Amino acid sequence: MWKQLADQWALVTGASSGLGAEFARQLASRGMHLVLTARRRELMEVLAQELHTKHGTRCEIIAADLSDPSEPERILNEIVAKGIAIELLVNNAGFGVVGEVSQADVNRLLQLIHVNVSALTELTYRLLPGMLERGHGAILNVSSLSAFQPVAYMGVYAASKSYVLHLSEALHCELKDRGITVTAVCPGVTRTSFFDVAGAPGWLQKHSSLTVETVVKAGLKAMVRRHQYIVPGWRNFLLTLLVRIASRRRVVKESTRFFRPRRNGDGNKPR
Ligand SMILES: NC(=O)c1ccc[n+]([C@@H]2O[C@H](COP(=O)([O-])OP(=O)(O)OC[C@H]3O[C@@H](n4cnc5c(N)ncnc54)[C@H](OP(=O)(O)O)[C@@H]3O)[C@@H](O)[C@H]2O)c1
Repeated sequence: MWKQLADQWALVTGASSGLGAEFARQLASRGMHLVLTARRRELMEVLAQELHTKHGTRCEIIAADLSDPSEPERILNEIVAKGIAIELLVNNAGFGVVGEVSQADVNRLLQLIHVNVSALTELTYRLLPGMLERGHGAILNVSSLSAFQPVAYMGVYAASKSYVLHLSEALHCELKDRGITVTAVCPGVTRTSFFDVAGAPGWLQKHSSLTVETVVKAGLKAMVRRHQYIVPGWRNFLLTLLVRIASRRRVVKESTRFFRPRRNGDGNKPR
């Protein structure tokens, strides 16, 4: 598949940091050109310069806030106006929210659903007709280990990632004989700013984690092998098997141990 993707264009959402920036780096090293999108333009400009210098990558930057429902269509209109056909869509943009119901910011939760669910759905369904017409294309959706079970104190995020996993698997099955591959990558704890953004600072340091290089490499390998989904890291994979045999009640109860806030006035800080 890499031969088919070289010199083609990938659209990477959430490309300003973490996994998205690493997807951009590894795709550029394979000869792909990139449309990068996220809110922080300056970070993407630095990345684009780096990739151009190292690999001669052509990068287009479209700064956009995916919590605004009108933005996915604007991004795609700009891409069409530049005469670019997207061969690979990496739906990576996303964020989490950790905390108790009583302290929930409902607007923030709705933004999460827009970014993690609605924008991903719109980009996917608006790009697929072109891929189907051409008879080839690929979609890589970033889900999460949290997609496999409900997670207390992180319920909306975990549910959003279950949506991503289930949608990806359904599309994988529907499209695999039509030249399109759809793969979900389900990372466990990965070293990015994710937990700081989610309202759980310090959490990452207390848990074993994978690097962005490892997760992205595994995700891209699964995509070129046309796999339905991948859980990077054998410990993480084992967890997805365990939750299948344990009772649902037990599984969600266990999840409370991860993100239950302290009762000492620390607000949403997890244990
Ligand atoms: N790190 C983990 O442990 C972990 C585990 C499982 C799954 N994931 C998933 O991996 C993906 C990438 O996260 P990360 O770990 O790399 O964290 P990150 O470094 O915080 O990256 C998140 C990316 O999403 C973008 N984003 C967030 N809100 C956005 C918005 N409103 N509009 C447009 N872009 C937005 C951010 O860009 P701007 O801020 O510049 O907009 C950033 O590029 C997410 O979908 C996350 O759920 C992460």
